[in-house]
Amino acid sequence: MFQDVAVAPPDAIFGLAEAYQRDPDPGKINLTVGVYQDDAGRTPTLAAVCAAERRLLAAGGSKTYLPIRGTAAYAAAIERLLLGAGHPALTEGRVATVHTPGGTAALRIAADYLQTTHPGITVWLTDPTWANHRPVFAAAGLPVRELPYLDRAEHRLALDGLLAALAVLPAGDVVVLHGCCHNPTGVDPSPAEWAQLAAVLAERRALPLLDVAYLGFADGIEEDAAALRLLAETVPELLICNSFSKSMGLYNERVGSLTVVAGGRAATEAVLSRVLRAVRASYSNPPAHGGGIATLLLDDDELRADWLTELAAMRARLRRMRRRLAGGLEARGVRLSAGGNEFLARQRGMFSFSGLAAAQVAALRRDHSIYLLESGRISVAGVNPGNLERLCDAIAAVAPRSSP
Ligand code: LMR
Repeated sequence: MFQDVAVAPPDAIFGLAEAYQRDPDPGKINLTVGVYQDDAGRTPTLAAVCAAERRLLAAGGSKTYLPIRGTAAYAAAIERLLLGAGHPALTEGRVATVHTPGGTAALRIAADYLQTTHPGITVWLTDPTWANHRPVFAAAGLPVRELPYLDRAEHRLALDGLLAALAVLPAGDVVVLHGCCHNPTGVDPSPAEWAQLAAVLAERRALPLLDVAYLGFADGIEEDAAALRLLAETVPELLICNSFSKSMGLYNERVGSLTVVAGGRAATEAVLSRVLRAVRASYSNPPAHGGGIATLLLDDDELRADWLTELAAMRARLRRMRRRLAGGLEARGVRLSAGGNEFLARQRGMFSFSGLAAAQVAALRRDHSIYLLESGRISVAGVNPGNLERLCDAIAAVAPRSSP
């Protein structure tokens, strides 16, 4: 059986990170995976996380299974974080949350639930979107299509095209949106644009699925949660896939969640029961350690304050690098768009969608050992004061310059 199996292509994101590791060039630059790095290129464990781990260790505890759903404390903390304490959906008992191993498992469990419980639906992704969205939904057997999202010439949201496409969606189709810090573009709807999107989703009776992997990386937790809170007030039903990989730096602990918002208590319980069946048939029940850390960071006032301070520092460093990248290119006469490079500084979150074409990306890798996604996505976290000049020089060597 195995004799004639064709080799699968490498993963669009992690495959590149592995190619970077194999590159012997000492000046190589890794702008691939969205993993936060400090100015020295390290990914340290947050001090608040270390403090939480010490508490967990001191408390002893057991390695017995968690419930399929995870702990009630974790679920309650996530619901307050995402929706805000006192949100009507919470007080009306219309919310249920399951602890998943990372945001990817949250997406896959949502996909498995949708595929088994709502046959005939289509999942709509933004064009472009996270490279793993399509594989996750397709692996669950769901048909996947794309909505216009980015005006590539202007580096802005293609609002008219998006609204027009949403206005003809069949009821019950699923629309996957990024709660904040859209990956890969860094282009988010404004609050007024979110209100327009929410209204048309409600009118079409489409089901929004919000992927929230970078909460706190744009303006702060509360500000970044505003869009999903607005949606939860406008539409009766909603799925939210959340990840603490980035915001708490818990990448390899695999800490995430799937939240269901339904129209009433009974519907919430019914959907939850189906979601739990999908979990049991997949990974059975979640790993405890990362969830324990996240619960402490969310529930303990002191740890929460320390975490938010560290998150603010990560956010500020990314902004600084984003601005310095735009400025460094400007200084070299590089114009990545007709309007200049200002769009790079405007983008939000961990990524810069540079507009570099696949051939330029290939040249950066071949001639300069600089690794970014074929789409032109740069993980700004990989940019630091030590490699910024070299990066700008290399981009100047492959990208068009304005006439002198
Ligand atoms: C990314 O987009 O680089 C991150 O979300 C990591 C991943 O799992 O792809």
